[in-house]
Amino acid sequence: MKVGFVQFYPIFGKVKKNLERMAELVRSVDADLLVFPELATSGYLFLDETELGSVAEPIPRGSSFKFLSDLAKETETALIVGMPEAVKGVYYNSAVSILPDGQFYIYRKAHLFDNEKRIFKPGDTGFYVFEYKGAKIGVIICYDWAFPEATRVLALLGAHIIAHPANLVLPYAQRVMRARSIENRVFTITANRIGAEDRGEMKLEFTGMSQVTDTKGNVILSAERDSESVKVVEIDPADAEDKKFTPLTDIFEDRRPELYNLLTKKF
Ligand code: ACM
Repeated sequence: MKVGFVQFYPIFGKVKKNLERMAELVRSVDADLLVFPELATSGYLFLDETELGSVAEPIPRGSSFKFLSDLAKETETALIVGMPEAVKGVYYNSAVSILPDGQFYIYRKAHLFDNEKRIFKPGDTGFYVFEYKGAKIGVIICYDWAFPEATRVLALLGAHIIAHPANLVLPYAQRVMRARSIENRVFTITANRIGAEDRGEMKLEFTGMSQVTDTKGNVILSAERDSESVKVVEIDPADAEDKKFTPLTDIFEDRRPELYNLLTKKF
């Protein structure tokens, strides 16, 4: 399976322009699956809910979904794209996974980061996997990286690949995702954005360095910090079915959930 990331510079508020750029980038490679950054259609740094509401869209009724679903069909590429989702007057920081045949799956970001808490509602979809070309794929978004519980649940559900749309500003996630790969023996695809957003009272710089890790935590594909980059690597998702470090050491069988009760309690 040919999988990869699209690292690019979404222009704040310019949804149509961003979609057009995304389409150019998708058409420039041959891939089965491409992962885009978090909030790729809209940009990130919303000053308030009204501003967010002007670019958030329902899925699948919105025009961005229609555009992306046509693109997935035309290029025969599954697309996982971060975008703001409008649902009955509230907004989720979502990622939609769209298969070439039009099937789609929505994940709503569980762990909201910093100012996101003022304008988005925490995700209610939970963690789940879907199937595509024989691979099970799960999705987390950006700051979800800091919660090993999220990737563990996806791995226990059988995920071969964890897609990770991101708008990273801290320097940790790329290192951490290697650990998430090792401890779960899964592939991960982190698609980060580049560039900066200066909204007057708030400014952020995004850190690029998108990557794909294999089931042993090796970085098998990576991008620079500040240039646009669409890269694809061939993987065998079935590698993720081997959960043994040694013949007697299986990361799922060796778990002791009876010792982990505190993990399911609110702190
Ligand atoms: C982040 O969750 N966008 C840092």
